[in-house]
Amino acid sequence: MGAIADILFGRKKKQNTDVYSSIDKQQLPSHVAVIMDGNGRWAKRRGLPRSAGHRAGTERVRTIIRMSSDVGIRYLTLFALSTENWKRPKDEINTLMKLLLEYLRQELHELHERNVRINTLGDISKLPKEVADEIARAKQTTKDNTGLTVNMAINYGARQEIMAAVKKAIADGTSPDSIDEAYLSSLLDTAGQPDPDLMIRTSGEARISNFLLYQMAYAEFYFTDTLWPDFDEAEYAKALKVFAARDRRFGGI
Ligand code: IPE
Ligand code: IPE
Ligand code: MG
Repeated sequence: MGAIADILFGRKKKQNTDVYSSIDKQQLPSHVAVIMDGNGRWAKRRGLPRSAGHRAGTERVRTIIRMSSDVGIRYLTLFALSTENWKRPKDEINTLMKLLLEYLRQELHELHERNVRINTLGDISKLPKEVADEIARAKQTTKDNTGLTVNMAINYGARQEIMAAVKKAIADGTSPDSIDEAYLSSLLDTAGQPDPDLMIRTSGEARISNFLLYQMAYAEFYFTDTLWPDFDEAEYAKALKVFAARDRRFGGI
C-alpha cells in the first residue's frame, strides 16, 4: 500500500537500479516505442477513479525515461494520447492535459540535467494553449541535448502522419520517381531517427492502435499483461532481455 500511496500523492520513488546489471548493453534496442496502456483498469481494480490510474501511470513515465537514459537507449517513444482518444469523456481529457502539464513542469529540470532531448510526434497545435506552450518550452530548452531522445506521441495517429506526409510530398511538387523509402521517412514526425527496434504494449491488448504503422515494419513486438502503472524497472528489464534473445532476420535467413 505504501507504494500506491507514494504514487497517488506524487512522492517520487527512488530509481531501482538493482536490475541494471542483468541488462546486456551489447544487445540493446536503439529505439524503444511504448504503448502505455492499462491505467484505467489499474485504477478500477483498486476501486479508484480512472484519473488515479493516469496519475500512477505518470510515475512510470519517470521510471522508464530514467532507466532508458541510464542504460544508454538512444530513442524512446511514448504513446501518451492518440487521435482516437478524443472520444473519451471531457473530464478524462482534462485530467490527461493537467497531468501532462504537471509532468513537464516538474520534470523539465531533471530531464535537461540528464541531457534528454524532448521531441513530440503528432499535432500539438490542437492541444490547450497552456499545454502546447509548455511542450514548446521543453523542446526549446532541450533541443541541443545529445543523450536520450524522448518522443512524446500526443494527439498522434500513424494514419494521419502518413496522410500529412503524402500531402507534403504533393504540395512540394515531388515527382513520383524521386519518392523512395528514405524520402518518405524524412516526411514523418520521426524524421532522422532510426525505426523502433522494440515495441512494448502493456495491459494485455495485442494491437497497434494506430501507432507508428510505417516505422514499425520490422520492430520486435513485446506484449505483456502487466498494466502500465505496474510496469517498473524489473518489467522493463524483462522486456529488454526478451528483445536481446530475439533472432531478427529482416527477411533473410
Ligand atoms: C492508457 O490507459 C492511457 C491513455 C490511453 C491515455 P487507458 O486509459 O487506455 O487504460 P485502460 O485501457 O482503459 O485500462
Ligand atoms: C492506445 O491505447 C493509445 C495510448 C496508449 C495513448 P488505447 O487504450 O487508446 O487503445 P485501444 O482503444 O484499446 O485500442
Ligand atoms: Mg487503453
